[in-house]
Amino acid sequence: MSGPMFLPDRQAALALLLGCLPGPLLAQRPLEVNGLRVEYLTNPVGIDAAPPRLSWRLESTTRNTVQAAYQLQVATSEADLGRGTDLLWDSGKVSSDASLYVDYRGPALVSRTRYYWRVRVWDARGRASPWSAIAYWETGLLRPDDWTAKWIGSVPSAADSLPSPSPLLRRAFRVASAVAAARLYVTSLGLYLGLYELQLNDRRVGDQLFTPGWTSYHRRLQYQTYDVTALLRPGENAIGAMLGDGWYRGYLGFNGQRNLYGRRLALRLQLEIRYQDGRTERVTSDAGWRITPGPVVGSDIYGGETYDARRERAGWSSAAYRDSDWAPVALLDAPPATLIAPVSPPVRRVRELPPVGIRQLPSGETLFDLGQNFTGWARLKVRGSAGTTVTLRFAEVLDRTGNLYTANLRNAKQTDRYILKGGGEEIFEPHFTFHGFRYVAVQGLPQRADTGTITGIAVSSDLAQTGQLVTSDSLLNQLQHNIVWGQRSNFLDVPTDCPQRDERLGWTGDAQVFARTAAFNMDVSGFFAKWLGDVASDQRSGGSVPWVIPNPLGGDSTDFAGTAGWSDAAVIIPWTMYLSYGDRGMLERQYTSMRAWVEYARRRAGSELIWRPGWQFGDWLALHSDDPSYPGATTGTDLIATAFLAHSADLVARTAAVLGRDADATAYGKLFRDMRGAFDREFVSATGRVGENTQTAYALALAFDLLPDSLVPLAAGRLVQDVRARAHLTTGFLGTPYLLHVLSATGHTDVAYQLLMQRTYPSWLYPITRGATTMWERWDGIRPDSSFEDPGMNSFNHYAFGAVGDWMYQNIGGIGLDPAEPGYRRSRIAPRRGAGLTSASASLETPFGALTSAWRTEGQQFALNVTVPANTAAEITLWDTRVDRVRESGTALDASAGVRNVKQRGNDVVVEVGSGRYSFTVAGSETPP
Ligand code: BGC
Repeated sequence: MSGPMFLPDRQAALALLLGCLPGPLLAQRPLEVNGLRVEYLTNPVGIDAAPPRLSWRLESTTRNTVQAAYQLQVATSEADLGRGTDLLWDSGKVSSDASLYVDYRGPALVSRTRYYWRVRVWDARGRASPWSAIAYWETGLLRPDDWTAKWIGSVPSAADSLPSPSPLLRRAFRVASAVAAARLYVTSLGLYLGLYELQLNDRRVGDQLFTPGWTSYHRRLQYQTYDVTALLRPGENAIGAMLGDGWYRGYLGFNGQRNLYGRRLALRLQLEIRYQDGRTERVTSDAGWRITPGPVVGSDIYGGETYDARRERAGWSSAAYRDSDWAPVALLDAPPATLIAPVSPPVRRVRELPPVGIRQLPSGETLFDLGQNFTGWARLKVRGSAGTTVTLRFAEVLDRTGNLYTANLRNAKQTDRYILKGGGEEIFEPHFTFHGFRYVAVQGLPQRADTGTITGIAVSSDLAQTGQLVTSDSLLNQLQHNIVWGQRSNFLDVPTDCPQRDERLGWTGDAQVFARTAAFNMDVSGFFAKWLGDVASDQRSGGSVPWVIPNPLGGDSTDFAGTAGWSDAAVIIPWTMYLSYGDRGMLERQYTSMRAWVEYARRRAGSELIWRPGWQFGDWLALHSDDPSYPGATTGTDLIATAFLAHSADLVARTAAVLGRDADATAYGKLFRDMRGAFDREFVSATGRVGENTQTAYALALAFDLLPDSLVPLAAGRLVQDVRARAHLTTGFLGTPYLLHVLSATGHTDVAYQLLMQRTYPSWLYPITRGATTMWERWDGIRPDSSFEDPGMNSFNHYAFGAVGDWMYQNIGGIGLDPAEPGYRRSRIAPRRGAGLTSASASLETPFGALTSAWRTEGQQFALNVTVPANTAAEITLWDTRVDRVRESGTALDASAGVRNVKQRGNDVVVEVGSGRYSFTVAGSETPP
């Protein structure tokens, strides 16, 4: 082809849409670089990574595009960088295919500075890309002595330990002349949930919620950086903050306790102004601030919020406001925590949901149905006279009489109250609470309800949705929807178990089983990087990992820690993130924590290498696990604990190998093999029976590679026999993620599909036949006879069983990865047909770019379209066919440009491809039943 040639836009869009234009017919697109990221974020403001790592993506329609070299340039002025002059750092042309997590190697970074950067690449054909668009990162306050602001709060009083109105704090200040740039650095204790709702000159600062975020507060406390240049003006200005109890001192945990982290609310804030004439100025939290109770008269995460609009202080954050009746603040001691910059995207409002139904309840309340179970709150629009109280109650489901079902909320009242100030339309959203709900029952509405009265506001960590999976079956599509909403509802700064009852904690086991699926649906790299920092931070000195992270549950003397399948999150999640994002630095950071957990568990297992004693959750919520007379699901906790320890030892061995810690790789490799031997002696018979002959026993033994090769088919056969005999699954939290994987890996994809497509209880689709819009905690949250499960443990928004999403992406969609080349540098495309599906398509924004696999059957023909991102390769498997039946873009495989290593592997055809778009057709292929 003679130089680049472009398709007209419409035609190109159509080609993309159809996904069917064979690669060679697509016009050559020039080599480009985009998607520039620093650590886990795009153009972050206020980071403290030193040195930061830089990533980018190559874009090219030419097949087999591989990066051969790159050049990075960094400057402190955008103009300099554009001209290529006065650079701070120029890497020069570096021969390398690395395009992810490349260290900045220029001069040491300084605080409060914006660094502009760009990159260009050369491919293996010698083509150069143009420079990327300019991106940036900005450092926060890198050194403790950059902080001159004091910690401020109210004067200590006996009431500090009681629920009390959220205070407002304010200060007026002068801006001397025209501002070139202004940054606000701020943190707080207790503000979490709602924010230190900050205002400057009567305008809210930023759109982040629940700042400063929930971390291991005594050790790590986040601060945020805001660009507030546009909010300042020369002359008189004022700044204000509202503080809420949040996770810090509100009710937290299932024991009805408050003040788990402390009693005092406190603020630390530093506004740094740079004038156009080069002078600088700081306004900080100090003794000059004033404080008063605000209109949030009560707020609690579980309980809800009461807001008395009559107590609003109109204009309280404007310069003109008179605060003479406010009290002076007290200066407080600094907490022991290290201040850290966020690495995860913040929590934001992510969706608005209008009501899909409104009706009167027998209770006299007006019921609004928002059509979707989710996490957040309701925005209320109301008109009425001052002092009128409107009460909003929230629930996930309705009972048989059509009223709110709230028994499963346990002690969480999740009730908001709004007291009107009168005089026109009033709009209320709470500040320091959130609820898990689909239905809102409103009492005391002074006006007729309409669809504008209540709007659902969904809040979540604002993670990019990176994965899509669509099939020809609508129930499966609803399952995928429910999994995504389960994630959206529970990834609220930390991965929580549920958003509604008096829990909402970072349960390690739940996060562990769901992490892989989570990384398909959304970009969770920064989210888990933050949380794993807290895992390491809250880990006990002996290596034991608490049940929940951050851990408000137990001090060092209690044993809310050290549980198989839960604490293993400390090992399994870093490894999963490494596989999904190729981030070796994550393994480096977590290695000590990973190893410490295995050492702790190894001590528990003793010289016999069987972990028996102590409390275990076991295969939590397996079918009938509360009924010991049911033989199908009671997997021994000794088997489970031993299997997880062996698996974690294996993963630590692999991690050590990646990190070049050879002695550890050998030692933990040996531990794994020894444990496998111990496991086999203790739990496996010569005929392949494992433990209690439960589905989970087989799933763990097979998934963790604990059986001798010769027993694998026998054990798999027994698993299949059990599934057939019972005609359903029996697994709980720990077995479920692996069940379908081990079936398909041992040649029983048909059985895996049968389980997945089953609509009757117990199954993944049963809740959908009962109207579920999120994942349920239990297989039978609502039983077939319409009664509810035990209200003590019956959440309708728990993502653990959604762990099946991982199997769905890998097998129905066909997108997987090669652990030897993580981050999808080498992917595996291998969609498996089954259950009468006629099409499916999966796409994933990998760190390298979009990977897609879309297939359909048409009569006897099977067609598969694949897109492989530049700078990566893929192995593609076409099941049950022969090489001579397969065409790529209409040509035989050996004649297709870009397809290599064509192999007949047993009944399957396996090929390798470089980047680009490919279109395979398989003639005369049988559709499995
Ligand atoms: C939580 C879980 C958690 C479990 C521990 C429950 O109360 O909601 O999902 O993993 O306790 O067994």
